[in-house]
Amino acid sequence: MKKLTSSEFRQMFLDFFEQHGHMVMPSQSLIPQDDPTLLWINSGVATMKKYFDGSVVPKNHRITSSQKSIRTNDIENVGKTARHQTFFEMLGNFSVGDYFKKEAISWAWEFLTSPEWLDLDKEKLYCTVYPKDTEAHKIWLEVGMPEDHIVKLEENFWDIGEGPCGPDSEIFYDRGQENNDVAEDDPENFPGGENARYLEIWNIVFSQYNHLANGEYVDQPHKNIDTGMGLERVLSILQDAPTNFETDLFLPIIHETEMMTANKKYGENAADTTAFKIIADHVRTVSFAIADGALPSNTGRGYVLRRLIRRADLNGQRLGIKGSFLYKLVPVVGKIMESHYPEVTDQKDFIAKVIKNEEERFQLTLDSGLTLLDDLIEKAKKSDDKTISGKDAFKLFDTYGFPYELTFETAQDAGLEVDKKGFDAEMKAQKERARKARGDLQSMGAQDETLMNLKDKSEFEYGVYEDNAKLIDILVDDQLVDRADGDHAVLIFDKTPFYAERGGQVADHGNIYNREGELVAQVTDVQHAPNDQNMHFVDVVLPLEKGEEYTLKIDRVRREGLRHSHTATHLLHAALRSVLGEHTHQAGSLVEPDFLRFDFTAIEPMTAKEIKSVENLVNQKIWEAIEVKTAITDPEKGKDMGALALFDGKYGDKVRVVQMDDFSIEFCGGTHCANTNQIGVFKIISESAIGAGMRRIEAVMSKKAYEYLSNRSELLDEIQAEVKSTKPEDILDKVGSLEQELHDSQKQVEDLNSQINQVKAGSIFNNVEQAGDLSIIAQKVDVNGMNDLRELADTWKSEDKSDVLVLAAGKDGKANMIISLNDKALDAGLKAGDLIKQVAPTFGGGGGGRPNMAQAGGKKPEGLEDAIKQVISIVTEN
Ligand code: ALA
Repeated sequence: MKKLTSSEFRQMFLDFFEQHGHMVMPSQSLIPQDDPTLLWINSGVATMKKYFDGSVVPKNHRITSSQKSIRTNDIENVGKTARHQTFFEMLGNFSVGDYFKKEAISWAWEFLTSPEWLDLDKEKLYCTVYPKDTEAHKIWLEVGMPEDHIVKLEENFWDIGEGPCGPDSEIFYDRGQENNDVAEDDPENFPGGENARYLEIWNIVFSQYNHLANGEYVDQPHKNIDTGMGLERVLSILQDAPTNFETDLFLPIIHETEMMTANKKYGENAADTTAFKIIADHVRTVSFAIADGALPSNTGRGYVLRRLIRRADLNGQRLGIKGSFLYKLVPVVGKIMESHYPEVTDQKDFIAKVIKNEEERFQLTLDSGLTLLDDLIEKAKKSDDKTISGKDAFKLFDTYGFPYELTFETAQDAGLEVDKKGFDAEMKAQKERARKARGDLQSMGAQDETLMNLKDKSEFEYGVYEDNAKLIDILVDDQLVDRADGDHAVLIFDKTPFYAERGGQVADHGNIYNREGELVAQVTDVQHAPNDQNMHFVDVVLPLEKGEEYTLKIDRVRREGLRHSHTATHLLHAALRSVLGEHTHQAGSLVEPDFLRFDFTAIEPMTAKEIKSVENLVNQKIWEAIEVKTAITDPEKGKDMGALALFDGKYGDKVRVVQMDDFSIEFCGGTHCANTNQIGVFKIISESAIGAGMRRIEAVMSKKAYEYLSNRSELLDEIQAEVKSTKPEDILDKVGSLEQELHDSQKQVEDLNSQINQVKAGSIFNNVEQAGDLSIIAQKVDVNGMNDLRELADTWKSEDKSDVLVLAAGKDGKANMIISLNDKALDAGLKAGDLIKQVAPTFGGGGGGRPNMAQAGGKKPEGLEDAIKQVISIVTEN
């Protein structure tokens, strides 16, 4: 067996498959691109969907990768078992319709056992096969796997709902009975069973079916191989480590954590050791996720990060570490991984800042969580069953991030129980809710084979607006035909000036003419075919023939607008990174003629000053008249030039780099201005939130920017005329003084109103009647509503005019009543609240209040007189 470091091992795997004709694909972002159904990239194959379903044909049909992956479904097991992690690397080799079972199995065996490669002891290897898959069984025997090391297992069918699936074969490494957690004769003690002895290290999926949404299984367009090897698991074998955590990927993090504790040591006792492992696992996950653009929040991916940071902090607390600490481990994670993944080191300050912010937030919740736990313990101590309910334990878990064990252990210390069944039921219900919300993996419905089989070359011509080209394929209703004479068709030419939608830039529109110069078709959309030809979606005007030559002419004005906005998008991206920081990630963009939409990651809204700075910087670069240079190169050279990574693109291809001085360098296939000054002017029209940690800028440029600014200027002229200001600069002052005038007038109206009420009060309060033993003032008054009634009631109180006051006001379908009582009336047993409740229905309302003062509102003013009479009679009869 070879002794290897993690980077030597990773490299060895990629080298092995590269020698067998695979292209090495760099690890993709953890955040799925163009795949809204998947929360995280959770395996190598998750990045290969477009190749497996045939929507894109890869340059090389053999691919290998080491893919960053996140899985959180087994989060409770992290730190408890030897092998569970939330972030891991999956080593894989993939065949897209190329080799199948024989090569996949033979190469796996060779890599694992050959002295040149891992040189593992053959005696320790086992595999499982799908019982009906006699072919795989036979191949395993042929390569040299002993018959009694092959286990037939019904579950060996890799199927995750909708998507590619097929029988699989898993490879196990026997770590010996001394490392087992079940007895030798335990029924689970076999490769594939629930045990710690047989470690699953590699899964080979013979991916030949497509599981459709309706439950049917159909053949994939071709047979594929998808494999996944857990890098950390194999490393634990190569480094003779009892668990994944004693390898060079985790130990430096654990040692750094040890130093933050007073005197805790990894390995000294089970509970502390688990806490160290959880921290080391979680800090890797959150560091990488943030490096790829995720941020903590209350939903989706952000919520996962929030939970992981909280769990890590609680475990830090358990080890006696005070306050925020997790963020200090980020540089250690970066250092361990930087030889293959520079992204954490590159952004370590930003990542640490995000984690620290989140930890500080949690410290506030943590205290209230601990207070709640104390309260629950006090309550449970007084109860008969001395138990904390499952609901409460779940609330602590869900809202405050307290793992069940923490609640359980604290309860136990206090001599209490926790209702584990109830907790599990709550947990199950939540998982069900989450599953429903997440939806199934994206369907990988098989692409039409006709399109996949189109292999003819079709070239896109940059910078050309019109050209003659040969029509090489015609599709009508997804069928290849020789002539298009219906309403619609899809056309492919040997070359074309029409740009197909990609990288946010929408497609060109335009016309197609025959040799006689007659219009034969109008292009309404252009999309890429799986083998990259541009497919022109057209409205047919006159019949078109395959093999004929046509003149293709794009809509020039539309293209100019697209060039302006695409170049402006790059300038905006660079300006945002310059003003907000290098950690600002592009999350998506839309490039339309003279209009752009740009989505990016950010923790907080931009300030008005930042927006202004970004806009100024873009305009500055426009007016500097920078030449826009494009170059074709290979991806590595482009990266060395400092180009920002692209989302899409086929690995192994040459790439195009678009550069404006050293201000902006990006991989990009779009159409750009020749010089930034062609954009003219750039104006941001909005900056807004589009979800947790994500902002959106909309901007206009060139003609649209002129129109936008000109409309604003006209509006300003109109306002100037409206407020009768002489100069535009005086408008603000003028509006300010108008506001002041309005304010003064309002004040005056209020004062006058108050005076009127006083006068009215005089006449009202002279109208005292006798109701039984009590004196009463009861009448409808002509005032504006409840505020006025209250003011009158206050005056009545200070003037001591009667024992009971009943005032009502009604206008425009609204009725109000107020009742006030003095001490004498109260002594007589009356209550204002009760009185108003009895009579309010008469004017269509309800109300209440204190014994000495109550009010009510209703919808029937016509009932007020009656209601007043009712009050008088109740008081009289009291
Ligand atoms: N896609 C397979 C897995 O994740 C290899 O196990």
